[in-house]
Amino acid sequence: MMTETEHPQPLTSHPTGALKGSALVPGDKSISHRALMIGAISVGRTRITGLLEGEDVRATAAALRRLGVTITQEDGTREDGATTTIDGVGLSGLAAPAAVLDLGNSGTGARLLLGLLATHSLVAQLTGDASLVTRPMNRVIEPLSRMGAGFTARDGGRLPLTVIGARLPVPITYQLPVASAQVKSAILLAGLNTPGETTVIEPQATRDHTELMLRHFGARVTVTDAGPGARRITVGGHPELEARPVRVPADPSSAAFAAVAALIVPGSDITIPNVGINPLRTGLYTTLIEMGADIAFGNQRVDAGEPVADLRVRASSLSGVEVPAARAPSMIDEYPILAVAAAFAEGPTTMGGLAELRVKESDRIKAITGGLAAIGSEFEEGGDRLTVLGTGRPPRPGKATVATQLDHRIAMSFLVAGMAAEAPVTVDDGSAIATSFPGFTDLMNGLGASIGEAAAE
Ligand code: S3P
Repeated sequence: MMTETEHPQPLTSHPTGALKGSALVPGDKSISHRALMIGAISVGRTRITGLLEGEDVRATAAALRRLGVTITQEDGTREDGATTTIDGVGLSGLAAPAAVLDLGNSGTGARLLLGLLATHSLVAQLTGDASLVTRPMNRVIEPLSRMGAGFTARDGGRLPLTVIGARLPVPITYQLPVASAQVKSAILLAGLNTPGETTVIEPQATRDHTELMLRHFGARVTVTDAGPGARRITVGGHPELEARPVRVPADPSSAAFAAVAALIVPGSDITIPNVGINPLRTGLYTTLIEMGADIAFGNQRVDAGEPVADLRVRASSLSGVEVPAARAPSMIDEYPILAVAAAFAEGPTTMGGLAELRVKESDRIKAITGGLAAIGSEFEEGGDRLTVLGTGRPPRPGKATVATQLDHRIAMSFLVAGMAAEAPVTVDDGSAIATSFPGFTDLMNGLGASIGEAAAE
């Protein structure tokens, strides 16, 4: 069972006064993975500023190094972040790795890399941590096999697995059975080293960072409507990918923790600069505004094809809403923090279309409801739906500890709850936070929070 790390780090978040100041949130995780991988197979030197330095992205960089790519890091200013330099090996230039590629906690790293490797003529073994080895890989194995790759995986299509890249890849047209940006991206990346055109049809639009980044590097990507909400995405094989500079915006999924904290701690007023506001990522912000949140998007601009803004968030009285299931792809990682916002709202918040939450870094429906119970908030759960029964008053946590299940977003969400609840909230293990949001505790404490090591029993 995956319940804790070797050295669990219990953390306690104490109720706090108004949050003030500017929150410099780390770089976008999805864009960071893609910048590294696409830079790796381009021709020339790609410079990335603001790359996320979280463990997930480090694991992807380490895997690419094992595949023969040179990646170096130079320190920068606090605002610019470090610059990461990648000397691209060109399309089909990845070398067979001499050791197992360990993607740690990262489903994105594992699935996107499998896409790249599937059409390289090499053999590689992939593994991951106690959470990642439980997650489904058949969703990428199936389409990538159709393109000619071979796989030997553990029972049920899990890591560790071996991929034998196709020598003569064939293009496919693939209808995604579930809305998944990772599966879409794996197929598009495999399509680069494949002759002809590779097409993915997605039932609902999912984050399009791969499409935008591929275009930025010079690939041919076309996107057309394929019925209500659906999209058809085609990538042309053997493009001339040329190194391009990339500035990674702050991650809207990470900014969400600071934003919700400011909404629920009375008197708060914070800014979060340079946040990615790609419309396929901002479902949480739409929902919060419907709940009555005061969030302003200033200084809107476009950077490397991605829309960016400076956020100003002020404490607000929130009301419960019905969140449409169709919004799930644009806020798929934000349900844990939405559940916390809903626990502080007046009236029920109902969320549907949550089936995919069962196969994230943890079974997130179980982890969210476990956390809500621990903080003394009521809810109703059934099938792929969850209703949080907000009362308009802060929840009153008992002595129970929130079980984070190796899931960074569960840990951060319930630490945010502790900032505005009637009593402190303790999470059993905050170590997974470093996968996506290194410096989370310091950043929150810098705004006025009081999060620290949990006192021993
Ligand atoms: C991601 C896609 C989503 C998301 C994950 C990052 C990506 O996963 O949950 O955190 O970068 O493509 P799915 O593709 O499984 O929905």
